[in-house]
Amino acid sequence: MTNKIFHPYTTFSALKNTLPNMVRGEGIYLFDDAGNRYVDIVSSWWACALGHGHPKVVKAIQEQAAVLQHSITGSLTHPNVLALAERLAALMPTPERHSVFASDGCSAVEAAIKIAIQYWYNVGQPEKTWVIGMDQGYHGDSMGALGAGFVDGFHKPFEHAVSHPAKLPFPIDGDFEPGRKVIEAHRGKLAAVIVEPLCLGSAGMKIYPADYLKELADCCAENDVLLIIDEVAMGFGRTGKRFAFNHAGIDPDMVCLGKGLTAGYMPLSACVVKDKLYHTFTDEGEKDCTFYHGNTYAGHPIGCAAALAALDIYEAEGTVERGAEMAKKMKQWMQPMADLECVKELRFLGMIGVVELKPETKPLIPKIKQSLFEQGYLFRPLGTMFYLMPPLVISDDELKAAVYALQQTIEDFCE
Ligand SMILES: Cc1ncc(COP(=O)(O)O)c(C=O)c1O
Repeated sequence: MTNKIFHPYTTFSALKNTLPNMVRGEGIYLFDDAGNRYVDIVSSWWACALGHGHPKVVKAIQEQAAVLQHSITGSLTHPNVLALAERLAALMPTPERHSVFASDGCSAVEAAIKIAIQYWYNVGQPEKTWVIGMDQGYHGDSMGALGAGFVDGFHKPFEHAVSHPAKLPFPIDGDFEPGRKVIEAHRGKLAAVIVEPLCLGSAGMKIYPADYLKELADCCAENDVLLIIDEVAMGFGRTGKRFAFNHAGIDPDMVCLGKGLTAGYMPLSACVVKDKLYHTFTDEGEKDCTFYHGNTYAGHPIGCAAALAALDIYEAEGTVERGAEMAKKMKQWMQPMADLECVKELRFLGMIGVVELKPETKPLIPKIKQSLFEQGYLFRPLGTMFYLMPPLVISDDELKAAVYALQQTIEDFCE
């Protein structure tokens, strides 16, 4: 069959080969149409925390599809979306919150950006319109998200089409002071700051300390700037706590959730908004401050059913706690790679394990990736960096084998 797909994040060089055609998933594995089995070592773009085919999520989806497959949330509710909004509020440090629902991480971010801007309009400070992020931060691929998160390696063609008036520098040694200067200099214009908590994923798993987040939250509060934490990639246990911002003990104004919200089973996302902001979106004052923003599939009943099932499993199976324990083992098993001549550094954050190779290995990266693929591992290197971000349900043996395969393959090609 010809391939008429305009693929995301896929080079034309990669299309010279026939792409694997995945037909089934089970646990940490994907199976192609030739019966080959692959370890989904990046959790299908960081989403599938519970692996594939978890019977409880599958059942929840099937049952909901048979009862009510769609009903909008504009002026209507349905039981699943009511329950999910309640659950998400209860997961936050302070539960006085309402959730805007959307279908993917990017649209949750887009909602957060617009809520921040409209909040200041609602309270009579319409000049506060800037939403800025961290240098090389990533918040999705919509034009709004590119204004706050911009990865040079991906987004160059759009450089002149989006405005990013300022950026927080990536913290060197966790130093917040350069970031403070940016916020203080622009406080009159700043509606919000948005950051990926603890780890800039798409920029190459660049990790920074939790103390930075605490200082950022305090600085935003002191300068009348809202703080949006984008937990789309890190949320639901990836970093060893439920949310990455929990490491810093902060209570962000808005929290964006996606991917792990349904454990990757359905497209659903949310922006969980503090009531202090929510209550300004009223049409009962002098001006109409209704939030005229929404997506057709916002709060989709089947998506919400998948999310409720995933949240139940995270709790019942102690997924977050298990992931935190597993992370210690992954670090221990990966540590010997630090001694390889070709390795620049290892980085760890919860169930993220990174091996960054030295720049001179660049021509070898596609070969290492291909060899791992042939051994049944679906790695997606970023630059000269290989990372493990497996489903949190991976077993000791499966994880150890993946680490070993990566080390052996790097040694075969580089040492
Ligand atoms: C931190 C972060 N925010 C937002 C997004 C966008 O999510 P989606 O691809 O579901 O639109 C991503 C995707 O990788 C992400 O890593």
